[in-house]
Amino acid sequence: MLQELTDWLSRTDLSALLSDTTHLETWLIIPLSQTIHILSVAVVMISIGVLNLRLLGVGNSKQTFGRLTTQLTPWIWSALVILFVTGVLQTLAEPSRELLNSTFQLKMALLVIAVAITISYRVTTTKNPNYWDVTADRRRMARFLASTSLVLWLCILSAGRLIAYFGAFES
Ligand code: HEM
Repeated sequence: MLQELTDWLSRTDLSALLSDTTHLETWLIIPLSQTIHILSVAVVMISIGVLNLRLLGVGNSKQTFGRLTTQLTPWIWSALVILFVTGVLQTLAEPSRELLNSTFQLKMALLVIAVAITISYRVTTTKNPNYWDVTADRRRMARFLASTSLVLWLCILSAGRLIAYFGAFES
């Protein structure tokens, strides 16, 4: 089914346009998209890093985790939308390189879990800004979530970079 989707995508006019390297205007789209992708990665990783380190008790303790979540999640959601759009453009340019690549698939699966954890931060602190500080159990859970989230985002970042290398063994 993935193979059929990939074949169909490669035959679309949009895919042909994005993979056309014979004209400067079309050739520029992918390098530009890659540049914006990597700048958005920086925004996500900085915001996620600050948020999770605060939950682990590292850094400026004057700022509560609830306030930090309110301030940083709009940056994370905006950067994720840009990552999605630029990622889709790159996928359309070379559907089989991405969709059939197990490192790309792993990256997407980990992203779903990492985003779910970030949503849980937003939902819980909207109800109660001190949600993660109320009991010892919650503090333990918070430390577990923050460590898991940091590891997941680092794996997503690494997987993004490694798609180019692992694809070579699969084709
Ligand atoms: C939101 C959905 C996303 C999609 C659809 C997507 C898609 C892609 C695609 C298609 C590539 C090109 C891979 C290649 O062919 O070499 C790529 C590269 C990359 N992605 Fe994403 N990505 C997304 C989110 C993210 C996130 C959240 C991160 C990290 C926090 C990330 C980090 C990277 C990195 C580091 C690269 C390598 C850039 C390079 O070497 O030029 N991506 N991504």
